[in-house]
Amino acid sequence: MVDKLRTRIEELKREKNAVILAHYYMRPEVQAVADFLGDSLALSIEAKRTDARIILFAGVHFMAETAKVLCPDRKVLIPVREAGCSLAESCQSEAFRRFRALYPDHKVISYVNTSVEVKAQTDICCTSSNALKVVESIPADVPILFGPDRNLGRYVQRLSGRENMVIWDGACVVHERFSADGIRRLKEEHPSARVVTHPECPAEVVALADYTGSTAGMLDFCGRDAAKEFIVVTEAGILCELGRRYPEKVFIAAPTLDGRTPNECEDMKLATLERIVDCLEREAPEVTIDEEVRRAAERSILRMIEIH
Ligand code: 13P
Ligand code: SF4
Repeated sequence: MVDKLRTRIEELKREKNAVILAHYYMRPEVQAVADFLGDSLALSIEAKRTDARIILFAGVHFMAETAKVLCPDRKVLIPVREAGCSLAESCQSEAFRRFRALYPDHKVISYVNTSVEVKAQTDICCTSSNALKVVESIPADVPILFGPDRNLGRYVQRLSGRENMVIWDGACVVHERFSADGIRRLKEEHPSARVVTHPECPAEVVALADYTGSTAGMLDFCGRDAAKEFIVVTEAGILCELGRRYPEKVFIAAPTLDGRTPNECEDMKLATLERIVDCLEREAPEVTIDEEVRRAAERSILRMIEIH
């Protein structure tokens, strides 16, 4: 069955001049049909680079929306339109507008995990790959409004030593449910293991890390570090690419507060091979964006891509 679906997807890609871009959190079988696999920043850059007629985005809605902002003349498809992001949803456009109005002299930096309407109100977007560089690109005397992830915001604030920074109070439910105690217990069981965390995790979890960075950064670190075992503190889909790249190493999924592994982002798991076949056959659901909003959002995303 899986083989049949994969064959059909390859046929449809050829027939329709389509590419599939996928995030590391997607199901393993979905990652396997991707033409390009990456973190949020790399996926945005790749979307801009491809000349395919159709971009099928195997990820969540804000990612497909970012691709559409950068490629307005392409058809951008998302297999499941309802695939959202708790972090993006923690920052609604009208509430963000009111918050911004309180800080009119601040430069606005928004994490790419936001709706296009929030990006349209932003000076520069960032991802977890380049958040520090983006903050450092703003002159030290210019205050910053950073949204929507409080964990990433505080992490970058700590690294940059930047005090003139206000942070929106949003978070990702998946990264917030990792347990610092659970990680400490794993470290006792595996004393030589290195801990790698995503900066969306709360500060007490990041404090236990040997390395903190984007999904692409975590993958690179696990390759270049001499350790043989790693405790991985991000959405569990990344374990697939870690195992594929470094089969000689051992990757241990960190537990949630209620002791569960794997910790998965439900939205990232909505797309299946069946949904991808259906989406390519019908060329729907398609991502569409109001042109004025798209243009405003494009400026902030292009500045993000410049700083990487
Ligand atoms: P990356 O930019 O590290 O791929 O992260 C995306 C994301 O949604 C993290 O939860
Ligand atoms: Fe959004 Fe969190 Fe899922 Fe990433 S893991 S897509 S931030 S809900």
